[in-house]
Amino acid sequence: MKITYLGHASLLIETQGKCIVVDPFIKSNPAASSIDIKSLKPDFILITHAHMDHVADVQEVAVEGTKLIAVFEIATYFGNRGIDAMGMNTGGKAKFDFGTLKLVTAHHSSVFHDGVQGGNPVGFVLWNEEGCIYIAGDTALTLDMKLIPQMCPPLDLAILPIGDYFTMGYEDAALAAEFVQCKRVLGYHYDTFPPIKIDHAKAKAYFEERGLELVLLPIGQSIEV
Ligand code: NI
Ligand code: MN
Repeated sequence: MKITYLGHASLLIETQGKCIVVDPFIKSNPAASSIDIKSLKPDFILITHAHMDHVADVQEVAVEGTKLIAVFEIATYFGNRGIDAMGMNTGGKAKFDFGTLKLVTAHHSSVFHDGVQGGNPVGFVLWNEEGCIYIAGDTALTLDMKLIPQMCPPLDLAILPIGDYFTMGYEDAALAAEFVQCKRVLGYHYDTFPPIKIDHAKAKAYFEERGLELVLLPIGQSIEV
C-alpha cells in the first residue's frame, strides 16, 4: 500500500491496483501546486467531512467511473451534483475493490461552505492483505480511538492531524497513537494556514521521546506500508 501526501489533509492511496484520493484540496492549496490534479484519475474518493479544505476539489479530481464514499449527507450533496456517491455512516464498514473500509468517530464539525449540513465527521480505517491504516480526519483526541484496535486489524500506520487550532495538535496526536496502538504516524493538517504552522523538529522529538515515529512528508512524497 503506497500513500502519497498531496498537501494539507489530501492523500493518494494506491493499493490492490486501485487509486483512492482522500479529501481533495489540491488545486485550491497554493502549497500543492506541484501536484497535477488531472493526472490522479481516482477510482475512489473518500471524504471525512464537508469543510472546504477537504472537499474543494472533488469536482476537479473526479473522472468517469470515480466513486465517492462518505457519510450519507455528503454523498447526497455530491450525488446531487453529478458525482457517483455512496453514503455510509459512522460505525459502518463495507468491502470494496481496494479492501475493507470502516467509518469511525471523529470529534469535529461538518458543514459545506454554502451552509448545507455534512452530517457527522468521520475517520476511516482501511485494510486489506497489504496492511491496515487509520485516517483520522479532522478530529480532537477522543477516547473512542481506543476502540479501533479492538474493532480492526493491527494498524501499520496512523494518519493524524497535528496542526492544532482546528484539530488536535501533535502532543494529543502522540496520545492518539498510543490509543490506537500504532507507533508509526504520518502527520497531516499542518502548516497550510498560519494558525496551524508547527515546529517540525519539536514535533518529531516529542514523538521520539515517547518511542513513537512521526513521519512528515514533503508534498508529493510517499510512504509504503
Ligand atoms: Ni475541518
Ligand atoms: Mn480541515
